[in-house]
Amino acid sequence: MKLDEQGLKEWGRWIGQTLKPPATLGLIGSLGAGKSVLARAIGEGAGVQVPMPSPSFNLLFRYEADEGCEVVHLDLYRIESPDDLWELGWNELGAENEIIIVEWPEQAHELMPPDHWLIHLTVVAENIALREVGVQKVGSPKNELPAFPISSSER
Ligand SMILES: Nc1ncnc2c1ncn2[C@@H]1O[C@H](COP(=O)(O)OP(=O)(O)OP(=O)(O)O)[C@@H](O)[C@H]1O
Ligand SMILES: [Mg+2]
Repeated sequence: MKLDEQGLKEWGRWIGQTLKPPATLGLIGSLGAGKSVLARAIGEGAGVQVPMPSPSFNLLFRYEADEGCEVVHLDLYRIESPDDLWELGWNELGAENEIIIVEWPEQAHELMPPDHWLIHLTVVAENIALREVGVQKVGSPKNELPAFPISSSER
């Protein structure tokens, strides 16, 4: 599936609107692949009403969303070892009302929860406005990741 920025945002908002917590999503892709664009769209769809700045330096931001749901947005690019996660309160994550979005989940190595979704974003070489999007299920996540809405899959 190839999506332009608008399509990726649409899908992200759809995920946010329909994905039931608890859920953990790892966003995998190179610098500038669109992980933060997707994370913000998911937050917006889930009902986050405030801007979602990049957690590149702060590593973790938590937001109130609809219906008591909370969106936790992490960017692990700068951690030096998975052990750095404990300082972030990593072991307190995973509450029933949380949608946890992790940029650079590779950096957490085996500390990622056993059940989660991975979304792979790859810049399309022939068209820098497009991203190849792939979804991977790891373990047995409680809730399904919503498929692309029709409007996006028709692009
Ligand atoms: N199809 C697309 N999907 C998402 N972003 C796109 C697309 N086409 C172009 N872009 C641009 O690519 C950039 C993606 O930036 P973003 O901050 O989301 O990347 P990132 O993967 O979070 O990078 P980092 O690893 O630095 O956090 C934005 O400037 C966005 O406008
Ligand atoms: Mg980012």
